[in-house]
Amino acid sequence: MKELQDGETMIDSGCCLGQNLRRAAYDAAPAKNVVGSDLKPVLMDMCYEMFKDGGTFQSKSYHCDIFKLSTDTKASGALSELEGHFDIVLCSEVLHLWSQDVQI
Ligand SMILES: C[S@@+](CC[C@H](N)C(=O)[O-])C[C@H]1O[C@@H](n2cnc3c(N)ncnc32)[C@H](O)[C@@H]1O
Repeated sequence: MKELQDGETMIDSGCCLGQNLRRAAYDAAPAKNVVGSDLKPVLMDMCYEMFKDGGTFQSKSYHCDIFKLSTDTKASGALSELEGHFDIVLCSEVLHLWSQDVQI
């Protein structure tokens, strides 16, 4: 958390509803320094309704498939423009979705 407070940036890959992004912001990280990405864009619309912070939460979220990031950056849309900009990558409760072969 100190690193985020000091200005480092984090991407939450597979952020779902962005609960970890909001937790970081709640714990005093600047929301603009934390970014989310997820396979399902609908989650990024639902989260603002659920957390009732559409007009105030400054963290951005991107539609992105983890598996297409390294092989086809164009498929990741605007997120590819941020390549190399993050100090921390959070990937929580995501890797278990695939077999070990796929993870590697
Ligand atoms: C169990 S949730 C984890 C949410 C959150 N990271 C947490 O710690 O609570 C898994 C998330 O991974 C996303 N996901 C699954 N496959 C993905 C992929 N190929 N690329 C990006 N996100 C993916 C799902 O849409 C879902 O939102």
